[in-house]
Amino acid sequence: MPLWSVTGGKELKGSLEIQGSKNAVLPILAASVVGGGVSRITQSPMLRDVDASLEILRHLGCGVMQNRGEILIQSDGMDQNRIPHALMLKMRSSVMYLGAILARCGEVRLSAPGGCELGSRPIDLHLKALKALGAEISESGGEVCCRAKKLTGAHINLDFPSVGATENVMLAACAAEGTTVLTNAAREPEIADLQRFLNAKGASIRGAGSPEIRIDGFSPKPYTEHSVLPDRIAAATYLCAAAAAGGDVRLTRVIPEHVETVLTALRQMGCAIVVDQDGIRLRRDGPMHAARPVITRPYPGFPTDAQALLMAASLRAEGTSVFVENIFESRFRHVPEMRRLGADVRTEGRVAMVCGVKTLLGAPVTATDLRGGAAMVLAGLSAEGETRVFDSGHIERGYERFDECLGAFGAEVKRLEAPQE
Ligand code: EPU
Repeated sequence: MPLWSVTGGKELKGSLEIQGSKNAVLPILAASVVGGGVSRITQSPMLRDVDASLEILRHLGCGVMQNRGEILIQSDGMDQNRIPHALMLKMRSSVMYLGAILARCGEVRLSAPGGCELGSRPIDLHLKALKALGAEISESGGEVCCRAKKLTGAHINLDFPSVGATENVMLAACAAEGTTVLTNAAREPEIADLQRFLNAKGASIRGAGSPEIRIDGFSPKPYTEHSVLPDRIAAATYLCAAAAAGGDVRLTRVIPEHVETVLTALRQMGCAIVVDQDGIRLRRDGPMHAARPVITRPYPGFPTDAQALLMAASLRAEGTSVFVENIFESRFRHVPEMRRLGADVRTEGRVAMVCGVKTLLGAPVTATDLRGGAAMVLAGLSAEGETRVFDSGHIERGYERFDECLGAFGAEVKRLEAPQE
């Protein structure tokens, strides 16, 4: 079990290239089975969630080779359509294999993702949409089974622009006869990256990035190459780290438009930010003040994944910072951990209020989830002394070489192995 030792009080300086996007590569790995063939994926981040997805692909009968950020998948030999519970548990987002395997095999069985650290994560919208395409759904023994002799294009309107449900519809509809029109679709940049990958594979999909996506079938190609989008949440993390600790950092391989709302909040807090062709530079050398209320919403709104990160940067900002979490029912579990450092944060339902304090003091804390864990490392950077972040492996699910990347800015972050109790 990793343990992150963070010694605060140092300004961050330097430059960093941002990793490929976790939330883009995961649906793309699932999509590699649609239509068979070979996929070569580059700029993939090296993460525990990626390893878990590759394990699922191997279990399904695909050939998988990985050389750092390059992944080769040969999916012609796929001969399984069921994902065992033990593999599903390793990565909750494996639910996109539902649409991908259904499109490939006409039947898929996997265990339903249960509640997790962000609250209950139902998949009702996924299942309703797959039903609309003609799938029969049954649930028994904790497993969901989707079957379809034939999938038929349909008009599907999502009750909420769910990222995963949008991806599952895109994947399943590739195998449908006729056109599928998906409205109230999620607009996250990762959806557009999935569209690029599927189109390179032979799909005919338009509209990703807008609320209406049209899927017009698929004529499989034997070989597909795709380079994964830069990770906007990793970019937001390193920007918030520099805001929390102070300093002058530059990020490259980043798409500034994808972090626009985070940049706006950081500017309101007193960071000087310059966006140019090569990336983003952030400087913070003076005191920070509270940003205007941060309200998480589906893209292009403020990302729920950056809520804890910006909160970490706000703990010492003058005034009262307000955070409203609209996406997940339980995404303030980092708050009691922040209080251990001396932060003044209160929550009431979906609202958190931070009253900026002058100093934070290092303490042992726990990573409650991926982004909450990263936020605790950031809080540790702006605290005096050592903060130990006990982590049951959350941070490595989403950040590649987190200690080295922060180390490239001069931060003192060490990855240790936690002693077994
Ligand atoms: N929801 C339902 N029913 C459904 C699907 C979703 O009620 O059938 C609810 C969820 O419970 C949640 C909200 O809708 O309250 C949003 O869920 P969504 O489906 O949009 O999220 P997701 O696909 O499960 C992805 C990312 C998350 C990110 C969210 C929101 C991946 C692998 N995961 O999750 O990333 O927070 O979109 O942007 O793409 C992370 O990286 O730390 C992370 C949690």
